[in-house]
Amino acid sequence: MIAQDALLDAVRALGATINDRDARLQAELLLAHALGVSRALALARLNDLLAPEIAAQYAANVARRAQNEPLAYILGHQEFYKLDFSVDRRVLIPRHETETLIELALARAPRESPTIVDVGTGSGAIALTLAHHLPDARVIALDVSPDALAVARMNAARLHLESRVEFRESDLLEHFHDSFDLLVANLPYIPRARFDQLPREVRAFEPRRALDGGDDGLDVLRRLLAQIEARAKRGATALFEISEEQGDTARQLAQQILPHCAAIIHRDLEGMDRVLEINLNLMRHPERSEGSRATNRRFLTLFGMT
Ligand SMILES: C[S@@+](CC[C@H](N)C(=O)[O-])C[C@H]1O[C@@H](n2cnc3c(N)ncnc32)[C@H](O)[C@@H]1O
Repeated sequence: MIAQDALLDAVRALGATINDRDARLQAELLLAHALGVSRALALARLNDLLAPEIAAQYAANVARRAQNEPLAYILGHQEFYKLDFSVDRRVLIPRHETETLIELALARAPRESPTIVDVGTGSGAIALTLAHHLPDARVIALDVSPDALAVARMNAARLHLESRVEFRESDLLEHFHDSFDLLVANLPYIPRARFDQLPREVRAFEPRRALDGGDDGLDVLRRLLAQIEARAKRGATALFEISEEQGDTARQLAQQILPHCAAIIHRDLEGMDRVLEINLNLMRHPERSEGSRATNRRFLTLFGMT
């Protein structure tokens, strides 16, 4: 079969599931994947004959995509913050929205040898991106899923960061006994009742454990908030990705659980509430100095919280 004909068949097959523009682009990417070349090179070879085994592999992958399997799982990788991550059904596909958390983390991490903990690391997208950009940081990446950790370790090796990031199986901070300067977490936050309304692409293929946030979507965050103070260094920061509807509730929750800490919500580039930031400067200890109270007041004023 000529590559051009196979491509047109693929565009038609995918057009039933996704919009026409994406269908064309994804059909081209799948063709390039089957040929093991770049998309540009695949397009330059459209008049070539496809070897039968390549044609069969292409058709099989197009059929998978037409059944809503995410493109990243079929291609086996996903770009995140300009780094390439291996992904498969053991991990959530890193999302563009999570880059907001990365920007904040890079801005908040202390310059000198910070200890950073990533809770719910999945593919390792957050932990490895931070390790890549902060060569002085010690990064500990935790996940309750051994399957996810296997993928994260593979990504660490691919990105030559295995000596910089330590992976540990842990239910939240259960097996983290150090203290952190910066905690980052993109935990499951989909309310359980919404699970069935998620697109099939997400619901049927991505790990439920990476998505299901309990009754109101905040169960895992609630549990983690109750654990962080005991493991925070003075002046530490914690950053949590949230869904766009959770800004007010997440901030109230943080204020309830950590009443002496400052909690603010940051929006993403689309203007949606996306990250809860907690500043652990505000210590509840009665012996805290007047100086630190003044710093805390400045922080609250800066963010319009007084
Ligand atoms: C939404 S995914 C995020 C993955 C990755 N951090 C990212 O941003 O692409 C959530 C991850 O949290 C993990 N997780 C869920 N509950 C957890 C818990 N109690 N303790 C540790 N990790 C948990 C899941 O296994 C999953 O890998």
